[in-house]
Amino acid sequence: MHSYRFALAIAAMVAPLVSFAQSPAQPTRKPAAAPLPQLKKNGAATQMMVDGKPFLMLAGELHNSSASSVEYMTPIWKKLAALNLNTVIGTVSWELLEPEEGKFDFSLVDYQIREARRHNMRLVLIWFATWKNAVASYVPLWVKKDLKRFPRVQKKDGVNAEELSPLGDASLAADSKAFRALMRHIREADPQHTVIMMQVENESGVLGDSRDRSPLAEAAWNNAVPSALMQYLEAHKPDLLPELTEVWGANGFKTSGTWPEVFGNTEHAGEVFMAWYIGRYIGKVTEAGKAELKIPMYANAWLVQNAKEMPGGYPSGGPVSRVMDIWKAAAPQLDLLAPDIYLPDFQGVCASYTRSGNVLFIPEARADVPNLFWALGRHAALGYSPFGIDSLNEDNPLGPAYKVLGSMIPVITKAQAEGRIVPVVQSDQRSQSVSLGGYKINVTFPPARGPQPAQSPRPQPPARGFALILNTAPDEFLFAGSGISATFETDSPGPRIARIGFIDEGRFENGKWFPRRRINGDENGGGTRLMLRGAAIELQKAVLYRHD
Ligand code: DGJ
Repeated sequence: MHSYRFALAIAAMVAPLVSFAQSPAQPTRKPAAAPLPQLKKNGAATQMMVDGKPFLMLAGELHNSSASSVEYMTPIWKKLAALNLNTVIGTVSWELLEPEEGKFDFSLVDYQIREARRHNMRLVLIWFATWKNAVASYVPLWVKKDLKRFPRVQKKDGVNAEELSPLGDASLAADSKAFRALMRHIREADPQHTVIMMQVENESGVLGDSRDRSPLAEAAWNNAVPSALMQYLEAHKPDLLPELTEVWGANGFKTSGTWPEVFGNTEHAGEVFMAWYIGRYIGKVTEAGKAELKIPMYANAWLVQNAKEMPGGYPSGGPVSRVMDIWKAAAPQLDLLAPDIYLPDFQGVCASYTRSGNVLFIPEARADVPNLFWALGRHAALGYSPFGIDSLNEDNPLGPAYKVLGSMIPVITKAQAEGRIVPVVQSDQRSQSVSLGGYKINVTFPPARGPQPAQSPRPQPPARGFALILNTAPDEFLFAGSGISATFETDSPGPRIARIGFIDEGRFENGKWFPRRRINGDENGGGTRLMLRGAAIELQKAVLYRHD
C-alpha cells in the first residue's frame, strides 16, 4: 500500500511534465497497426499492397523440409539475403503444428517470422496439410491412422489411397480448425504483417485416376450437381473458358442432373467433379483462416504437362487453368490460383493463368531472370519465386536481378498501374518490336549464347537478352535489362521522325533515379540506338524528340 501511494505521488508530479512534452492537443495514441496486406486494383493492374504501398514479391521458395529445423535453417537466411530476396516462401506443416489433436506448436512459425523480419524480408507461408502434391503425407499421424474418421480417396483399384477424400467432413473440419489456429496465432504474433500471404495446401488433386471413387464420392457423383455450381455456370456462361464450355457443351449445357448427366461420364467430367469438391474444401479452409486474419490466400497447381495428358496424369481437380471457372465458383474465398511453372512454355502458362480475371503469381519456377522480367512486364505478376531457393548458388544471376528490381518497385508498380511497361525477351527471333508511349521500339538481340554451365566460378550473363521498357514520361523511356539494343520510330500522330535527345545510365535507390554517365558516341551507336550490352543488368533512360 505504501509503495502504491508513493508511485501515485510520483505519477502526479511527473504527469504535467509528460503532458507538456506531448502537447495537450495530441493525446497519447497507440501506434497505428500496420495496414493489412491486400490485393488492390490500381488502374490497369491488381497489385499486392504491403504497408499500404504496391509491392513486388521478389521471392524464393524453400525446399519442403528446410523450415522443419531451426538448426538446418540457421545458415540459410544469410544466403537468402545475399540473393536479395524481399520475400521468402516458407512452410508450415500440419503434422508439426498439431502433432497431437488440439495441441499446437507454433515455434517454427515464430522462428520464420522472427528471422524474416531480422533479414528485412516478408513471408508467404505454405499450409502443407490435406494436400501436398496430391497426397496427404503432411497430415499428422493421428489423422493418417484414423481412416474411419478421415476417409481416403479410392481409385479404380478400390484401395484406400494416401489421400484424404475431399468429401470427408471430419477431415475438412480438422484441417480448417488447425489452419484457423495458425492464422489466429499469426494475427497475434505478427502485428507488423511480416506474413503477407498464405498458400492454402499444395498442388491438390488426385493422381492415377480422374476422380475419387470411394463410397462417399460415388454417392455424390450420382447425386445432383449442386445448384450453386449450376447457377454459377449459367450466370457466367458467355465468359467461361473454352475448355469448360467444351466439357459442359458436350452434353448439351444441361442445367440440372447428376454429374454424369450434366458433364458426361468422361475423365474430364471426373476432373470437373473433383475440382468442385477440392475447391470447395480448400475454400472452406481458407475461410476459416481468413476469419482470423484476412490476408491474401491462394492455391497452387501442378500443371498439365502436355496437351495429350489426361486428368489423373496430372492431379485431377487441382487448380489447373482449364478448370479455373470451377475453382472460382467453388472457392471464392481464394484471391488467386497460381501455376508452378517448370514447363518450357513459361509465357504460354502465364497467359493461361491471366484468363477469367485471375491475377498472376508464380510460387514455383526455375530461376530464370528473363522469365521473371516477362511476368512483371507483361502480366503485372505479383511476384516470382524459384523453387528450392536454399540450394541456389549465391552468385546466381537472380541475385543482381532482384537487387535492381527491388530498387525500382515504386517505378515498376506505377508503370504497371498505368499500363506503361512492356517486356522484351529473346526467343528464336533476333528482333522484336513493341509499341509504347507513341513510339515503335525495335529491339535486336545478339546471337543466342549457349546454356550456362551449372556451376560457374563467376556470375554468368543470362543466355537470352531481356529488358523491361517503361514509358516514364512523354518521350521518355527507361530500359532495365541486358543483351539488347533498341532503335525508335514514331507510332502516333505528329512529327514523323524519332530521334534520341540524350541517354543517361543510372540507378535507383528506393525508387529515386540517380544518373551516372551520359551515354553517347560509341556507347549509343553515334546517337542512333540504346544498347544494354553488358553482362550485368543495366539501367538507361532515353529522352526522345520528334521532327518532320
Ligand atoms: C512441386 C511441389 O509443389 C514442391 O513442393 C516440390 O515438391 C517441387 N514440386 C519439387 O520439384
